[in-house]
Amino acid sequence: MDDGMETAVLQQQISTLQATVARLEQQVADYQQLEKKLQWLASFPEQNPNMVIETDLLGRPTYMNPEARHRFPELGQQGLGHPLLRGLRPIIVSFADSDQEYVAREVDVGDSVLEEKVCYTLYGDVHRVRIFAHDVTARKRAEEALQEMARRVVMAQEEERQRISRELHDEAGQALTALKIGLEIIQVEVPSGAEGLRQNLAEAIALTDTTRDRIRQLARGLRPPALDTVGLNLTLEDFCENFGRITQLAIAYEGTPHLRLEDAANICLYRVLQEALTNVAKHAQASQVLVKLWADETAVHLSIVDDGVGFVGQTAVTRPHSAGLGILGMHERVELLGGHLEIQSVPDEGTRIMARLPLTEM
Ligand SMILES: Nc1ncnc2c1ncn2[C@@H]1O[C@H](COP(=O)(O)OP(=O)(O)O)[C@@H](O)[C@H]1O
Ligand SMILES: [Mg+2]
Repeated sequence: MDDGMETAVLQQQISTLQATVARLEQQVADYQQLEKKLQWLASFPEQNPNMVIETDLLGRPTYMNPEARHRFPELGQQGLGHPLLRGLRPIIVSFADSDQEYVAREVDVGDSVLEEKVCYTLYGDVHRVRIFAHDVTARKRAEEALQEMARRVVMAQEEERQRISRELHDEAGQALTALKIGLEIIQVEVPSGAEGLRQNLAEAIALTDTTRDRIRQLARGLRPPALDTVGLNLTLEDFCENFGRITQLAIAYEGTPHLRLEDAANICLYRVLQEALTNVAKHAQASQVLVKLWADETAVHLSIVDDGVGFVGQTAVTRPHSAGLGILGMHERVELLGGHLEIQSVPDEGTRIMARLPLTEM
């Protein structure tokens, strides 16, 4: 090889090396860029004021952001035994069996309530569970306070009704009875010939009678006295019978004797029946109504089924926006006691109302 050729080969090699160096420099720059981006991405969970936790499929934490480490420093050791992760295993199993991507749930961790979103992630062949959690204790407590307040309003309303009912029955009712007796005594004393006076007295006595009946009805409507004495089952049966007689509706009643419920539950179911049957009489043009009251281990159920005209917009939905005050009131009362009300209505087939109240120890 002459000198000229040798130089050319060397130069060739140098420029190949230079190109390689340049490529490597570019790659290093790219990696640095990528690392910065990774750091930037990692700052998301790190700066998140909510808790971010990652676990493996056995529920063992593999990552906790600062907020999670700060709130639950013992989480790393306790793993699935920690309240925050309790019940996680069935969720992980359910991820394996379905293509569900996340489960939202609320967990009670003793002094606070957390809202959690449990997500399943697969990166390459690494399976992970990510949990995003934030504290909703304040909201929960406010909701509970509101519920308690609404419960008290209903109770106070019932107490007031009971008081007025008793007052009407005892005071006004007795006074009218005394008035009637007084008028009848005068009637005996009316001299013969005073026909006009006799007629007036007879009218006054009749008016006293109708007023007394009206007051009794009012008192009964305000507070069914039988609830205290004969219990829910007979009171509802009695109500169906009376209501059927007055409205000429054929109401069949199938009840359950010996049900012992709290006062609030008794009144709630009584009011639901009152409103439901009033609606049947007002709107349904039904020929048959079936009312059932029964209980199982956990709940007491009341259903009112009619074969009337039905109405649209009612397919097992709860709290329909178009509902009137009567239907809303039923929902309110039942939900206040932790129960559930469902209305199904099919035009030209009829309406079914189902109320379920959880049984509480008495
Ligand atoms: N059993 C029923 N059969 C047919 N329509 C009903 C029945 N119950 C309720 N509805 C319909 O639902 C509407 C809302 O009822 P509700 O909330 O009790 O208010 P209101 O009775 O004062 O109209 C009624 O106006 C009626 O159109
Ligand atoms: Mg109504």
